Amino acid sequence: MLLEGLKRLEYRGYDSAGLAVIQDGAIQSEKVVGRVSQLDELVDDRFTGVLGIAHTRWATHGGVTVPNAHPHFDEKHRIALVHNGIIENYHALRELLLKKGHKIVSETDSELIAHLIAEYMDGNVVAAIQRALTHLEGTFGLLILTLEDPNRLIAVRQGSPLVLGIGDNEYFAASDVSAFAQHTRQVVYLRDGEMAELTPTGYRTMTFADRTVVRRPDEITWEIDAIEKGGYDHFMLKEIFEQPSALRNTLAARVRADQGLARLGGITAYSDDQLRSLERVIISACGTAWHAALVGEYMLEELARVPTEVEYASEFRYRNPIVGEETLAIFISQSGETADTLAALREAKAKGAHVMGICNVVGSTIATEAGTGSYTHAGPEIGVASTKAFTTQMAVMTILALQLGHLRNLSLETYSTILNDLVKIPDLIERVLETDPQVREIVPIFEHTTNCLYLGRGINFPIALEGALKMKEISYVHAEGYPAAEMKHGPIALIDENMPVVVIAIQDPVYDKVISNIEEIRARKGRIIAIATEGDDRIASKVEKAIYVPRVAPLLTPFLTVVPLQLLAYHVAAAKGCDIDKPRNLAKSVTVE
Ligand code: F6R
Repeated sequence: MLLEGLKRLEYRGYDSAGLAVIQDGAIQSEKVVGRVSQLDELVDDRFTGVLGIAHTRWATHGGVTVPNAHPHFDEKHRIALVHNGIIENYHALRELLLKKGHKIVSETDSELIAHLIAEYMDGNVVAAIQRALTHLEGTFGLLILTLEDPNRLIAVRQGSPLVLGIGDNEYFAASDVSAFAQHTRQVVYLRDGEMAELTPTGYRTMTFADRTVVRRPDEITWEIDAIEKGGYDHFMLKEIFEQPSALRNTLAARVRADQGLARLGGITAYSDDQLRSLERVIISACGTAWHAALVGEYMLEELARVPTEVEYASEFRYRNPIVGEETLAIFISQSGETADTLAALREAKAKGAHVMGICNVVGSTIATEAGTGSYTHAGPEIGVASTKAFTTQMAVMTILALQLGHLRNLSLETYSTILNDLVKIPDLIERVLETDPQVREIVPIFEHTTNCLYLGRGINFPIALEGALKMKEISYVHAEGYPAAEMKHGPIALIDENMPVVVIAIQDPVYDKVISNIEEIRARKGRIIAIATEGDDRIASKVEKAIYVPRVAPLLTPFLTVVPLQLLAYHVAAAKGCDIDKPRNLAKSVTVE
């Protein structure tokens, strides 16, 4: 059961793995550097206990070694724990424990917690843990078992996700529901500052100060096959192909072309007057979600004519941003747990901004703390490289831009054009997915290259960035995204006969300009791959390969142009034999700053 759960969670970190169970009056454990499958081989059928903990690691403190892998123990091997997060007063704690004579065997911050609990252990496990917690600064999601009380598992949450699974005479705790979703659909999301004790007969949730907290379980809404590969070689490919259905879910009940409706229910906390009088929008996110924010900026400025800025969440917090109650601050995050985005949300709230979260994971910290916002309803995204989360984030941004536009002088004609095209997007993506065989033909151009460029203009500039990010993170080919016209201000120096350049050249108001950029690349013998509009008969003679996407309102073209770029990155990575769902050094949700 533990290994099965770990396999489901492996996408969240995968440099080493380990588990511990209480068995025959002792804590038995095993750890490996590498994947859960290696741990599985090592463990075989040796462990038979009924209480255990397990972990896959994404290194923060200390290298990738067996001693640094979790679980960690106290000196007497009577306490075992797994930890997500970072203990910020690590140095002071380590000094203190060393002075007290503790023998510390790893370089991790996590091990110190086990030693600290041992300091306070006098038979009452919960009380000892609570006293130890008062010394910890930083973020921690903890699962702890002890020989003092071999029937009790303690779960602790501070700044790192933890959710309980309430089964039939069995109880679970994990950082993500997918770890135990095949055993129970009843879940309790712990909040920061809360902990839980689980025994074979029940559970109790309480604060760190031991005040009981009563919370009714929520129910998981998605089906178990959402976290299976369903016949695809990789989750990423499955998730690329799921985009039409994911988008249908995002749009359902929010967009009705026949009724002229585009409305996010999640922002009803703000009155129409408040939304009408907004002076500014700030969107903050990281990585792929930041690219969705850039697309959102174009949409909000174009449709709602509201000045919009996009900030990297990691920068936002540290630059004393100017935000107040005239600002709507939007935070986009698939996982809803990204530490940088969460910190930015807290900063904006503290400054009095109206806030809104756009998250995929239901019950996640950003969704909960934002209070107001919309879920993308893309279903679980397991592949580390984000795909369906991205397109559904763009869809929520489009609805928001239409909704605000409607309140703020957007012409009915434009409103209807965009709305009518938006509902067609899932079907149009289905057509784009049919270009998969043509995308595969392009792979040899990239297989042996170490560099490539992605160019786009206007609302397709963020798509150039996203295409480049997908390529570099899963196939390890260095890829740069650039606004097409910026190329001549520097990157053009890189172009020669070995440099593939992907140009998004759809027929929109800047099409002719992009064609000029293509000519500039041709003159320098670059190898050009174009993402073009169906029916464009000019482009084929100018480029080495073209992938055609259906015609749609220019503002909505990112939904279509991004798909071949996702497929391209996927097939290049597959041709190179890369570990597509678990690219090196990455983790699905980055819960550390
Ligand atoms: C790229 C990717 C990352 C995430 C980023 C933010 O494919 O997945 O760049 O987009 O780490 O993650 P969330 O959206 O969970 O906040």
